[in-house]
Amino acid sequence: MSLYVIAGAGTDIGKTYVTRLLIARLRAAGRGVQPLKPVASGVADLTDPAFADSDTARLLDALGETATAAAVEACSPWRFREPLSPDMAAAAEGREVRLEAVLAWIRARRDAAPAGTVTLLEGVGGVMSPMTSDALNLAVIKALAAPVVLVTGSYLGAISHALTALETLKAHGAAVHAVVVNETAGSGVDFAATMASLARHAPQARFIPLRQHARAIDLDLA
Ligand SMILES: Nc1ncnc2c1ncn2[C@@H]1O[C@H](COP(=O)(O)OP(=O)(O)O)[C@@H](O)[C@H]1O
Ligand SMILES: [Mg+2]
Repeated sequence: MSLYVIAGAGTDIGKTYVTRLLIARLRAAGRGVQPLKPVASGVADLTDPAFADSDTARLLDALGETATAAAVEACSPWRFREPLSPDMAAAAEGREVRLEAVLAWIRARRDAAPAGTVTLLEGVGGVMSPMTSDALNLAVIKALAAPVVLVTGSYLGAISHALTALETLKAHGAAVHAVVVNETAGSGVDFAATMASLARHAPQARFIPLRQHARAIDLDLA
């Protein structure tokens, strides 16, 4: 019944990529895993070929599951078409998504999973991006008291984004299990130097390097 939140220092940082690798690692170890992306925007209809580009489709694919209507609903019950933050994407459809409803759904899914199952909750955007109409990812992390796997990048400016996210999580009492430093495509910043700088400025954190097109991640989850 363990649950980890896969949070980002920003959007498009590699949360889904990392979650897929964690799913593969857990499955290879014979562990049960259930990925949840409860609130997802930019999701086309299941009947639209563009659905394959959604996080929900990618997570189900990593699980080896067919994206049936039931499987999609069980992973991502709040889906919005516009590629905006969920509060805005919901408003564009005249809908809203409330923190308490999302929390209740996550807890129910976590508690209903077979013993030993690891639940991986992919957040939305960055730590302080809205996840619902009334709350940020941070509120979800705090309410669940779940350890965080923070995904950061190696672009110019990524060190500040990583350290700012870490400080924010610390200030709110969130436990950071590890920070995955996901190499940013096309970045001119040296990857090893980024790792060294992060370790120097946040010696308490565990940084896990992840290179472009990595096929596996060296990170264990309890
Ligand atoms: N380490 C990596 N190697 C290759 N492609 C990556 C890597 N990390 C992310 N990507 C790609 O970058 C894009 C954004 O990553 P994604 O995981 O969807 O970000 P997020 O879930 O944080 O929005 C996707 O197309 C993804 O496949
Ligand atoms: Mg994603």
